[in-house]
Amino acid sequence: MKKVGNHNSNSRKLFVSLALMLTFSLTSFAQDAAPADATEAPVATLGGDPVKGKELFNSNCAACHKLDAKSTGPALRGIAEKHDMPWMYKWVQNSAALIKSGDKAAVKVFEENNKVPMTAFPALSESNIDDIIAYTSEKKVEAPAAVAGAVVAGESNQSGISDTVILGALALVMAMLVVMLVLVNNVLRKVAKANGIVIEPKAKTTPIWKAFAQSQFLVLVSSILLLLVSAYFVYGFLMQVGVDQNYEPIQPIHFSHKIHAGDNEINCKYCHSAARVSKNAGIPSLNVCMNCHKSIAEVAETTATPEYSKAFYDEEINKLYAAVGWDKSSQSYTGKSQPVKWVRIHNLPDFVYFNHSQHVSVAGIECQTCHGPVETYELQKQFAPLTMGWCIDCHRKTDVKMEGNEYYTKIHEELSKKYGVEKLTAAQMGGLECGKCHY
Ligand code: HEC
Ligand code: HEC
Ligand code: HEC
Ligand code: HEC
Ligand code: HEC
Ligand code: HEC
Repeated sequence: MKKVGNHNSNSRKLFVSLALMLTFSLTSFAQDAAPADATEAPVATLGGDPVKGKELFNSNCAACHKLDAKSTGPALRGIAEKHDMPWMYKWVQNSAALIKSGDKAAVKVFEENNKVPMTAFPALSESNIDDIIAYTSEKKVEAPAAVAGAVVAGESNQSGISDTVILGALALVMAMLVVMLVLVNNVLRKVAKANGIVIEPKAKTTPIWKAFAQSQFLVLVSSILLLLVSAYFVYGFLMQVGVDQNYEPIQPIHFSHKIHAGDNEINCKYCHSAARVSKNAGIPSLNVCMNCHKSIAEVAETTATPEYSKAFYDEEINKLYAAVGWDKSSQSYTGKSQPVKWVRIHNLPDFVYFNHSQHVSVAGIECQTCHGPVETYELQKQFAPLTMGWCIDCHRKTDVKMEGNEYYTKIHEELSKKYGVEKLTAAQMGGLECGKCHY
């Protein structure tokens, strides 16, 4: 029984180190969580109420000012250190008058900002302005690094317990169970030893794979099973060759159709304007993006989801700026731009002819019929299989819109006589002819 003692000390070392490891990993979680709370506490340097101030700031000042970045006006965080409060009251209530009066600081700020006038706020009382300045004096909450949406997600969701903590706790419980089992085992062995009971080493049994190989029946059944399963997968694989339904590649900029076409109800054709008039729907150029994004440099707090944080989205908008060469701080183009290489999702083989305007403008089919509920897609994907059967199926079922289309009046008369029906499907109009879709 000498071996038992040996085994004992080894296992003890193992479990002590395991326990140490767990404690360390848990304390590092705790450290991660701590600073977020600490920095959120406002510095109470001023009499104002930062919560009221935030509201006032958002409704009056946010159009031109950000806390940490230049917008139309300068960044306002920590502005209390630059000017005293009496100056601030005069400035906010009527900056133009202050500049006119020849106040040196006012003239300097005005000239530094290309003489863009700031709105006067005679309605804001001095205590309102105290509140706003209290808000601008809050310390910056360090945004978590926006490397991966998933990592940040846990932290932004501060009300719930994060997954990592739950996993850590589970691991701890498991480890404790293991340790307890080993301890119980040791105690039992000791008791047995004390009582003079000799524990027999385990009798050698045939390993399970040997027993398996010896049974011809089992081997036969499992070979058949294996063949069936692989045949199933090979068939499935062959049927989806060239069919890329649900293909959802990672794009160079995380562009959410849900946020643009869904939440903000931007019309598909605003960006894919070519769909109405040409064969291709086209991907919008970055200039189209900048029509809006000159003034939208970050998303609202409410846009963040558990999966994607605000910091993640803001970083994606920064990628857009990097690509068009837009300098946020000076609000001007740097002239250094590089194209964004969007990954193409829908792609028919070269021998097929498909025309968007024919379907969108002439037939009046909604984008969603072929592309699915795009306004709900966080990431764009291929909704339809784009097989020949899919095209033909719809041509058989869909009636051609004849009303108000002079082009069709004559053809309609002839063809409806030929088929003896009032309505004509795309198929009856020639939508099944090979040459219409194949060059
Ligand atoms: C229409 C845009 C606009 C709005 C709205 C606006 N500002 Fe300004 N603000 C400016 C501009 C531009 C400047 C730079 C000075 C100039 O050109 O007149 C400025 C400058 C300032 C300064 C001086 C900054 C410095 O660096 O010294 C303070 C303080 C300030 N604004 C506070 C506010 C507050 C508080 C509000 C909301 C109640 C507000 N502003 C609303 C445009 C605006
Ligand atoms: C704000 C501009 C914008 C709006 C609005 C918009 N899209 Fe897009 N769309 C894009 C950009 C950029 C891409 C390329 C990146 C991607 O695939 O996500 C794209 C990609 C697509 C693709 C995939 C293209 C491919 O590679 O095969 C489809 C399909 C599409 N959009 C359909 C729609 C539909 C339908 C709507 C309306 C519900 C819509 N889009 C609204 C900008 C827009
Ligand atoms: C018609 C206005 C408009 C156009 C055009 C537009 N955006 Fe946006 N974009 C918005 C709005 C609004 C938001 C959301 C702001 C919020 O939630 O606070 C947004 C958010 C974003 C975001 C962060 C959320 C996300 O989707 O990941 C990115 C990145 C973005 N836009 C990129 C683009 C790109 C690239 C283009 C050009 C293909 C573009 N936008 C065109 C209005 C527009
Ligand atoms: C009848 C079905 C159908 C309708 C309706 C339709 N599309 Fe498409 N769309 C397709 C097919 C098929 C492709 C692939 C074309 C190819 O690879 O040549 C495609 C490709 C695209 C692409 C990729 C780029 C390109 O031009 O090939 C975009 C973007 C797109 N569609 C947007 C739209 C928008 C926006 C609408 C609505 C205005 C729309 N589609 C309506 C079937 C449709
Ligand atoms: C959602 C239904 C739908 C789907 C899916 C669809 N089509 Fe169509 N297609 C129509 C309708 C309706 C017309 C008749 C338009 C018209 O001329 O008024 C049409 C017309 C056409 C025409 C012109 C036919 C003619 O007689 O001039 C071609 C070519 C065509 N489609 C190709 C395709 C291809 C290729 C696909 C698959 C990639 C496809 N369509 C998928 C509904 C559909
Ligand atoms: C409504 C449009 C349409 C019509 C009409 C049509 N095809 Fe196709 N065909 C397609 C599309 C789309 C594909 C590509 C399918 C894919 O990539 O999986 C295709 C693919 C094919 C292929 C390649 C095999 C394959 O599945 O990739 C052959 C061969 C073919 N078609 C023959 C024909 C013949 C013959 C006719 C006339 C009887 C015809 N097609 C009529 C749209 C059409």
